[in-house]
Amino acid sequence: MAPDVVIFDTTLRDGEQAPGNAMSPEAKLRLARQLDALGVDVIEAGFPAASQGDWRGVQQIAAAVHRPTIAALARCHDRDIDAAAEALQPAQRKRIHVFIATSDLHLEQKLRIDRATCIERVRAAVRRARGYTGDVEFSAEDATRSDLDFLCSVVAVAIAEGATTINLPDTVGYAMPAEYAALFRAVRERVPETANVVLSAHCHDDLGLAVANSLAAIDAGARQVECTVNGIGERAGNAALEEIVMAGRVRPQVAQFRCQVNPREITRTSRLLSHEIGVFPQPNKAIVGRNAFAHEAGIHQHGVLQNGLTYEIIAPETVGAGGSSIVLGKHSGRHALERRYRQLGYEPDASTLEQLYEAFTALADKKRQILDEDLLTLLHDGFHHAPEVYNLTHLQVTCGTKMAAADVRVAGPGFDERSATATGNGPIAAAFAAIAEAVGRTIEVLDLSIQSVTPGRDSLGRVLLQVRIDGKSLSGHGASTDIVEAGARALVHALNKADHADGLETASLSNSYFWGV
Ligand code: KIV
Ligand code: ZN
Repeated sequence: MAPDVVIFDTTLRDGEQAPGNAMSPEAKLRLARQLDALGVDVIEAGFPAASQGDWRGVQQIAAAVHRPTIAALARCHDRDIDAAAEALQPAQRKRIHVFIATSDLHLEQKLRIDRATCIERVRAAVRRARGYTGDVEFSAEDATRSDLDFLCSVVAVAIAEGATTINLPDTVGYAMPAEYAALFRAVRERVPETANVVLSAHCHDDLGLAVANSLAAIDAGARQVECTVNGIGERAGNAALEEIVMAGRVRPQVAQFRCQVNPREITRTSRLLSHEIGVFPQPNKAIVGRNAFAHEAGIHQHGVLQNGLTYEIIAPETVGAGGSSIVLGKHSGRHALERRYRQLGYEPDASTLEQLYEAFTALADKKRQILDEDLLTLLHDGFHHAPEVYNLTHLQVTCGTKMAAADVRVAGPGFDERSATATGNGPIAAAFAAIAEAVGRTIEVLDLSIQSVTPGRDSLGRVLLQVRIDGKSLSGHGASTDIVEAGARALVHALNKADHADGLETASLSNSYFWGV
């Protein structure tokens, strides 16, 4: 039977150690609760000796999240170990994770100690940590560039002092999969006591091999992998949790291991993390990137529309993603175009579809992304000049270090004035939520960019917006010296198009003979 592997999530510790990834203790707690829902076994919550904030983050998580083991990092210093133990005090399951570098490069250049001193520090640190908890992990930092004999001596000492997990990190992402697997085999063979502990892999992605190395380590006997959501972390990041988990799910005959992670929580966790740190995975990121289940090429779209398996090895629902998306662009074919028109409520006959397709390919050559409103423009000349139904008559926003709140009034020729208030994570979010409430529409922001139109302190700002309103993708723009107002006006512009699109759709149902390009 495939072995069980412990999923050790270090998003809140190693993941946070990258420019722009800092998280407040409150954000860490929200993420820790979601990591609990995801089903990870261990949450490394932080490095308590590093800062007050880290200490508080670990302590709050230890007090509130009870199913997974909560781990805290410590150097081989009494002060660090004591700080970790104090912060972990409320935890139901706690682990102290001590580490020291074992490569000569790090010993000589960074720590300026010799090998004997290193061994003594390991001995003392593991012993001290064991005084606080029976669950102690020891990491030999830079293990993959360490002398093998010395590494084995250190590992043997850590186990003799009571370490229960031994981690062999590829700290600088230097190893190749076969080499990393060989390291695990060698350490297991030379240190027979490793049979009584859990061996762990911890890989960085400097050569893009972190996940491949983690899987190779599992194959060679590792029974814990350390990873982060979206692969965030120092420099090029850590091994991506979602990729390791899904490799095991999709290729169980080859990547033979089992784990407790619930894949359906993957997308939600990835999005929460992006939302908290404001950093999104690149569009082509496996499993969680915006394009992971998007198809633009005609041949692929045709295949996926017949049967998703043709071009998808993972059904998007399996990881809690909304579904495959058929994106219209210059490589798309008639099938996809026809399907989108049908979804928008139109039924073009064969010759109309042909005309539309010709116009569509000409447009797609010029435009990076085709929105529903472009399709409507091809169909109904002049669609862009949507009549004004909604008008923003009042906008008042308050914001500061906490939530922002907005108060809006929307009126217009076809719409009795309505007011609404809403809060949001920032003034634009609050204004959008209030406008959505006032007009009773479901609005999803796809893209928002801000441009400065005129130079100087009172410069005019322009907001360009792409939104999905009740399922239709539309754009809007607005300008003002106040950027929040510009955003609100852009949204109202898009709402007017949505209303116009609805009107045209209704008319087309009663006049289905009318088609014009
Ligand atoms: O990359 C590394 O070596 C680490 C250790 C502290 C485990 O993050
Ligand atoms: Zn690391």
